[in-house]
Amino acid sequence: MLCAFIVIGVVPLSFFTMVILNTYEEKAINNRIAEMQSQGNMLANLLLPTGYLTTGGIAEIDIAVSRIAELYQGRILIVNKNLNIIKDTYALEDGRYLVSEEVIQSFNGNNISIADRENRNIKLTYPILDNSTKEIRGVIVMNGSTKDIYSVRNSIEQRAVLFALTLAILIMVFAIIFSGKLTKPLTSVVNFIDRLSEGYLEDGFTIKGYNEIEKISDSFNHMIVKMRKLENSRQEFVSNVSHELKTPITSIKVLADSLLMQEDTPVELYREFLTDITEEIERENKIITDLLSLVKLDKTAGDMNIATININDLLEQILKRLGPIAKKQNIELIYESFRPVLADVDEVKLSLAISNLIENAIKYNTEDGWVRVSLNADHKYFFIKVADSGIGIPEDAQDFIFERFYRVDKARSRESGGTGLGLAITKNVIQMHRGAIRVYSKEGEGTTFNVRIPLNYIS
Ligand SMILES: Nc1ncnc2c1ncn2[C@@H]1O[C@H](COP(=O)(O)OP(=O)(O)O)[C@@H](O)[C@H]1O
Ligand SMILES: [Mg+2]
Repeated sequence: MLCAFIVIGVVPLSFFTMVILNTYEEKAINNRIAEMQSQGNMLANLLLPTGYLTTGGIAEIDIAVSRIAELYQGRILIVNKNLNIIKDTYALEDGRYLVSEEVIQSFNGNNISIADRENRNIKLTYPILDNSTKEIRGVIVMNGSTKDIYSVRNSIEQRAVLFALTLAILIMVFAIIFSGKLTKPLTSVVNFIDRLSEGYLEDGFTIKGYNEIEKISDSFNHMIVKMRKLENSRQEFVSNVSHELKTPITSIKVLADSLLMQEDTPVELYREFLTDITEEIERENKIITDLLSLVKLDKTAGDMNIATININDLLEQILKRLGPIAKKQNIELIYESFRPVLADVDEVKLSLAISNLIENAIKYNTEDGWVRVSLNADHKYFFIKVADSGIGIPEDAQDFIFERFYRVDKARSRESGGTGLGLAITKNVIQMHRGAIRVYSKEGEGTTFNVRIPLNYIS
């Protein structure tokens, strides 16, 4: 991370500095060349009207030439038509010949400038053009130092390096401080998760840090509350299961024991007790079947057996199957369909869910009551309504009826073969179809369950 910071911070800075320095150097040298050329031009204009190029030796001009040479900390040579050096500000080569490529080129009218980076100077040859005759009467050779430009460049560079170094150190310091600040709360998150996986659900969790990290701690606490609830309901479920499974067995044991204890028991009593025992066995069997289907629903939440089913047919089948039970209690079964409905559902599971609702409506009904099942749909959902004229569910119990093993009236439920698992199964199935179930009930008046399920299965 430290390296990344430095690369991100310092590398672009160095690159940027290089670009700026090179641009500065190029601009400054070009400016200097332009300046020197205009001085050359001025000098040429000064020379032309005089006889300097043939005779030389004009004091004012000598002074002007020397001043320009001084200005650029360099040397000026003036060469006449015969390639004779008539002026050298260094006074070393007066009178000699100067034959160089640049000078020849300048006699051909070219204006030549060469910037020598290594020796830090600029070499310029400037033709002295007589405009009236279009004749080149001589060449000015100027040498100027660019040391000043490079010294400015160097001092900028030094400052940039200093700046980059300071920045690198600052970044490093920040990185160390920040990585510490960042990792510290994260370490406590990790420790906390370790404790969680070891099963310590009881302690909450707070960390101080940045907003995001505090959010993590909030969601953790949220999760723990949920996990605790889940753990509690799991424990409750286990104890309920054992209790429910034990009850019939206890009854069977009591019945069997009392038969064994009596001597010369009449056959009729045997029959009666054995009938009771059979009933208890059936009850045990029913509880186990319901439990198994609930567990299976939980386990196979992923694999739904979805097919397009005619819901009208499905409801009619269920009602046909439950008809005899309703008839026994003289309860009228009414079926109402507002439209044909085709939907993508798991037929077996949905059938179980709706059967449970209708069975309840029959079971918790009054003599000569009615049960009305209706089906409707819109473009997105289908709706099944199961209404009855039964005993109703007390308001304070309505929140719990979908919980496993919950029964408003244990005795009544038991009498009619209930296990308290029916609505839990129903709700589970409906949720697996991404649907919803609602109950409306008034004690003594009746109950209505409304089910809503999407027509197209959402996986
Ligand atoms: N249509 C209904 N009318 C009145 N009470 C009902 C109705 N449906 C369910 N209940 C109440 O909800 C409880 C839970 O129902 P359920 O899970 O199917 O268990 P059970 O095996 O007892 O039928 C029932 O014991 C009963 O008290
Ligand atoms: Mg039931």
